[in-house]
Amino acid sequence: MTFTAQRMNLIKPSATMAMTGRVLALREQGVNVIGLSAGEPDFPTPAHVCDAAARAMQEGQTRYTDVAGTRALREAIVDKFRRENGVAYTPEQVIVSAGGKQVIYNAFMASLDPGDEVIIPAPYWVSYADMVLLAEGRPVVVPCGEEVGFKLHSSALMNAITPRTKWLLLNAPSNPTGAAYTEGELRALAEVLDRHPNVHVMTDDIYEHIRYDGRPFHTIAQVAPSLYDRTLTVNGVSKAYAMTGWRIGYAAGPQPLIKAMTTIQGQSTSNPCSISQAAALAALTGDQTFLTQRARMFEVRRDLTVRALNDAPGLSCRTPEGAFYVFPSCKGVLGKTTPQGKVLESDEDFVAYLLETKQVACVHGAAFGMSPYFRLSYAIGPDALEGALERIKEACTVLR
Ligand SMILES: Cc1ncc(COP(=O)(O)O)c(C=O)c1O
Repeated sequence: MTFTAQRMNLIKPSATMAMTGRVLALREQGVNVIGLSAGEPDFPTPAHVCDAAARAMQEGQTRYTDVAGTRALREAIVDKFRRENGVAYTPEQVIVSAGGKQVIYNAFMASLDPGDEVIIPAPYWVSYADMVLLAEGRPVVVPCGEEVGFKLHSSALMNAITPRTKWLLLNAPSNPTGAAYTEGELRALAEVLDRHPNVHVMTDDIYEHIRYDGRPFHTIAQVAPSLYDRTLTVNGVSKAYAMTGWRIGYAAGPQPLIKAMTTIQGQSTSNPCSISQAAALAALTGDQTFLTQRARMFEVRRDLTVRALNDAPGLSCRTPEGAFYVFPSCKGVLGKTTPQGKVLESDEDFVAYLLETKQVACVHGAAFGMSPYFRLSYAIGPDALEGALERIKEACTVLR
């Protein structure tokens, strides 16, 4: 007898969460591991956000809210899209869920029929393909290598579209590569989509505020108003406001889709935590100046990280435009032998070697759909980061 359904054969645990679990277990054993595997800012949630949550509790905002989120928060989200992205929505076009993750899951569950295709540019965030599979869709992975800046180009999009294509999924700045689209690049993709009116666009903008070198942010519904009626714009407070544990993400898009997503949410989890919603309201309506200050701090770490990795024999690292990850190639270390006598054959071998011999935790590129690469998050304190980079360089230097 087995307890698990056949659908469990389709999916696997998140590789990033698995590595984070290994880091915690090693630390419990007293091992001094430097974790570069988790995707969360090391900064604290701003004090005014925590204060708003405490006030919400004291004022009795401890009951069920509207399934799609409080009216006040949805209005603040409408205002955010208008103010920051120049895109107009109504509160009825907005849903708030337990993280961007639940938003995306709800969207696929609400929209995919068996066999519907979702175009996912690779490297991709670990959860996209598994969510599509859970919703009985078919992930169509389009490799977008370093030679094209880890970005989907219009010709690759054109080749991937079939009569079964339901969604194109975009994520920029990207997890894991940090690559971001320019306005012109988004327009070129939109021109292809204009010719395929049955294809919808889901854009995961969760790293919107973490971008570098003074680059502006563009989202496709703004750049291509012709796509507004078939675009779902996903965002959240986890990364920008250092609120990963609060679990608040949101999306805006066509009302029938939002309504269907709300029905799924109403029959599964109901509203996201009322106190977290009050906190997210404070985040979106309060002071925003610290966002650029924090992005600037991440930029300093990005530069340090890229420099150090390019200095390590066998590694090469492109400079990302945003998010707090780098996705270096480890092609140059494959085929080499470790001091323990093991030949490194894959990116998975390389990250295992880093963890076992240098106690540095990264995630192998295959988990994001592209090898031989690995992902490293530099959202940790500068001292730990410098220590980790030093250890990685040492690990590469002793390979033969
Ligand atoms: C690309 C991307 N999208 C969505 C999420 C989900 O974030 P959350 O559920 O915390 O809002 C993450 C988190 O790692 C992410 O990297």
